Amino acid sequence: MREGKRRILTYGTFDLLHVGHVRLLQRAAALGDELIVGVSTDDFNSIKGKSAQYPYQDRAEIVAALTCVDEVIAEENWEQKADDIRRLDIDALVMGSDWEDDERFAHLCDLCELVFLPRTEGISTTSIKDDLSKGA
Ligand code: CTP
Repeated sequence: MREGKRRILTYGTFDLLHVGHVRLLQRAAALGDELIVGVSTDDFNSIKGKSAQYPYQDRAEIVAALTCVDEVIAEENWEQKADDIRRLDIDALVMGSDWEDDERFAHLCDLCELVFLPRTEGISTTSIKDDLSKGA
């Protein structure tokens, strides 16, 4: 039974978990009572043109270990979001502001609240990988 809990959903790759990820997840969790995180699978990352350092199972396990996260699901394609929102009875979909102008999200505002949170400046998985490859 749901008992009036406000459920929040967000998605991401969450590779090489960093403080930008943690802050995003904490802020998302603070918008409701339960936070569900869709972690991108390795196949979906290939579709997005991304390659994660850690495999899906590890990234999912790390995200699930955070105290602000209640449940992890697999993000396998662009189209599943509407189904996830209905199936999981989601009240708000939270994304980083980098997704604000993406038309793949705009139509979801018919199904639940859409919230875009500002990114943490100066850090990303890409910049960490770049720094490591330069020996920085
Ligand atoms: N995020 C954030 N602040 C950052 C980096 C990420 O708020 N500095 C948010 C993103 O907006 C997204 C979530 O964390 O909502 C997962 O982002 P992800 O793409 O997995 O992380 P990035 O570090 O942006 O990875 P990449 O460099 O591979 O794009």
